[in-house]
Amino acid sequence: MRRRSGCFRAVLNSAVKEEEMGMEPALSIETLDWNQLWKQDRGGDRRKDDREFWDRRAPSFAKVAGADTYAETFLRILNPEPDWNVLDVGCAAGTLAVPLAARVRSITALDFSPVMIDLLSARCRDAGIANVAPRVASWEDDWRALGLSTHDIAIASRSLAVDDLQAALTKLNSFARKRVCISCPVGSGPFDRRVFEAVGRECKPSPDYIYTYNLLYQMGIYANVSFVAKPIRKSFANEEEAFESLSWMLDEMSGTEESRLRQFVAEHLIPDGGRWTMDYERQVRWAIMWWDKEIA
Ligand SMILES: C[S@@+](CC[C@H](N)C(=O)[O-])C[C@H]1O[C@@H](n2cnc3c(N)ncnc32)[C@H](O)[C@@H]1O
Repeated sequence: MRRRSGCFRAVLNSAVKEEEMGMEPALSIETLDWNQLWKQDRGGDRRKDDREFWDRRAPSFAKVAGADTYAETFLRILNPEPDWNVLDVGCAAGTLAVPLAARVRSITALDFSPVMIDLLSARCRDAGIANVAPRVASWEDDWRALGLSTHDIAIASRSLAVDDLQAALTKLNSFARKRVCISCPVGSGPFDRRVFEAVGRECKPSPDYIYTYNLLYQMGIYANVSFVAKPIRKSFANEEEAFESLSWMLDEMSGTEESRLRQFVAEHLIPDGGRWTMDYERQVRWAIMWWDKEIA
């Protein structure tokens, strides 16, 4: 007997019927429903990605999101042209919109977190950026009803945290005239397995880029893909800052979990030129996928 993992439960009716008849269902590239797998492996009760979570996280995320080479790499792959107008979905405080503003004609920047949008508006004001239009809007909103039109380019960087991936990709694709560029985590992405183990929780990261890539394939979109690997070894002013910077991964920590995380930080923090750093480095990987509309 072939063993079937939980992932392969989402097969089409024909395969289910075969099983009912006592036959081993035939797995094939056609019968795997990647959107269904995404929904299944994402879990129905994810609180992590809701608006309140991102409102709370906005100030600290805004501080660190632009501090490394990720945005630069994404923009190099996007290869912006001066006459483009760009739709940036899940823009946060402008990780991409702010550095992109000087290189394109205009940007419509959407995020469902009002705090993120306020931070982006303030950054644009402070930097004298006039060609970014920040809007509070979600993946699930009716963008046409909000007055949004098709743009030259549509991007979604690290923001495809949606229940219906196929609906989101279809929508993004339909709002782009020339090119679409997205990025998704590879493996556990920004989640640090050691932190989960330290508090005694299982690390169950969201489905990674391979669901998206395969779903795009089934949608008839043959995306280019580049991998970005970023070694992470942050520096902290003190133990409390290190604790705070890790605790975003663990929503609703119990008292026991909190003390385990504090103990983990105390065990792994080492002095680093007047500041502190963890005694290990980890790789965070992203897959940047893009396609041109004419040849997708
Ligand atoms: C990990 S951040 C990425 C931000 C930015 N694009 C980047 O690469 O740094 C994810 C962003 O997506 C936004 N977001 C999450 N779910 C969303 C949804 N359903 N609709 C709109 N924005 C969403 C969050 O508020 C957050 O700003």
